[in-house]
Amino acid sequence: MSTECQIDIALGARSYPIHIGSGLLQQPDLLGPWLGTGVNLIVTDENVGPLYLEHLRVALGDRPVAHLVIPAGEAQKCVAGWQQVHQALVDAGAQRDATVIALGGGVVGDLAGFAAATYMRGVGFVQVPTSLLAQVDSSVGGKTGINLPAGKNLVGAFYQPRGVLIDLATLTTLPGRELRAGLAEVIKYGLIGNLDFVAWLERHVDDLLALDPAALLQAVRVSVEHKAQVVARDETEQGSRALLNLGHTFGHAVEASSGYGEVLHGEAVAMGMVCAASLSAGLGDLTPADVARVEKLIDRAELPTRLPHDSEPEALLRIMALDKKNLAGRLRLVLLERLGDARLRDDVDRSQVLKTLTELRQL
Ligand code: NAD
Ligand code: GLY
Repeated sequence: MSTECQIDIALGARSYPIHIGSGLLQQPDLLGPWLGTGVNLIVTDENVGPLYLEHLRVALGDRPVAHLVIPAGEAQKCVAGWQQVHQALVDAGAQRDATVIALGGGVVGDLAGFAAATYMRGVGFVQVPTSLLAQVDSSVGGKTGINLPAGKNLVGAFYQPRGVLIDLATLTTLPGRELRAGLAEVIKYGLIGNLDFVAWLERHVDDLLALDPAALLQAVRVSVEHKAQVVARDETEQGSRALLNLGHTFGHAVEASSGYGEVLHGEAVAMGMVCAASLSAGLGDLTPADVARVEKLIDRAELPTRLPHDSEPEALLRIMALDKKNLAGRLRLVLLERLGDARLRDDVDRSQVLKTLTELRQL
């Protein structure tokens, strides 16, 4: 069985490859074609930097390299964090031929990517994701951005990287809670479009929690293939890309209301997917057995299936009303028509959403 693979994102002139395998950080030839002639600014965080910055520096050989190490956590995805990356680019003497390399989880990737998109109206960008969530989702597809106190990812840009290097070996140092948070996004791909993958996950969730290399490669490969297809069809989320947000409207509200960083993004998505499944059942699309199946898989991935006990349904709904998917003042939610088949609905009564938010609060 192969231990490496390449998946291409087909976006015309902005197409790029994603390399997936173990030990890829030690293969300098993979990064080379994505770099400009100018300085390379590696942006990483205080957890990932000590582990992998040196590997990446070695892989970059004698090219000009500067680095910025930011504190870890969602709170960095803010205006001040974004300015800090710009300042590091200025300090490094970066010009339009510079490349920003994001080495870390989704926070580093979203922040560094948005800085790359905006510095001098855009410099080169490369993603080296090191969390499972970033490997299966945030490093792929070009969504970059920062949060505002009013809501998640409210400022940002679609800005594709020149390439993505996924070194599965980096997952061996990822804290267990973060690994599980990444599994939420993996489960999402199954629920929205691939029932066979749901069944595969039911068989292999324990292998994934145990970091079995073959299971990890399969889970990341299937997830990235799914995302690659969606992004190629709908890069800027005019339609079908929104389905990748199953559970996210609920989840973003939980993240924003509990203070960014308290509940991990993946944990919030896990709760949100249970909300979406439960609401779908309330609308007559899923059966109670389907909802139980979703809950069981999320629970086996050791992820939360209930909203925080102190969450306020009315407050969550107010935050959900700010979601970027909403149009003309109507809530637009990704719901499940069947397991493995999602659709976007804007006809759900707010009282039904409120009922779900109330019923799924942890006792
Ligand atoms: P994160 O970046 O905070 O990383 C999680 C934690 O794990 C951090 O403490 C980090 O330092 C640590 N870490 C990462 N890799 C490590 C490793 N290999 N070894 C040890 N520690 C490691 O969070 P995340 O879950 O990776 O990403 C969440 C963010 O991604 C959120 O801001 C979310 O909005 C965003 N996101 C963006 C997209 C997109 O399409 N752009 C999609 C999904 C999520
Ligand atoms: N994470 C959802 C998207 O990239 O569209």
